[in-house]
Amino acid sequence: MSKTAVGKVGEFEEGLVYGFMVDGADVAIVRRGEDFFAFRNLCTHSAYSFDRLCLNPDGNLTCVGHFAVFDVATGEALTGPTSAPLPTYKVGVEGDEVVLELEGASA
Ligand code: FES
Repeated sequence: MSKTAVGKVGEFEEGLVYGFMVDGADVAIVRRGEDFFAFRNLCTHSAYSFDRLCLNPDGNLTCVGHFAVFDVATGEALTGPTSAPLPTYKVGVEGDEVVLELEGASA
């Protein structure tokens, strides 16, 4: 199992997507309340990046490419031009660090 600390909890602005390259994987992490979610930082429609996007008021994420909407918790494509889900990764908090586990990938 490979764990990588990607930053302090307080460094993550609520609802803002941050992109990281970890072990060659392009990963997006977002904070929603006290929870963190990690998913592939490339849209499954046409590979637009989610880096620096903000979550919608309902907590989902809209791609700026062609407006696919994803559930960041499950990766499910909710609406838009793709039905392919985003691969998700395990992410959590240890102490005051946000820690990513790439082996937790769902796809
Ligand atoms: S690239 Fe995301 S919807 Fe087209």
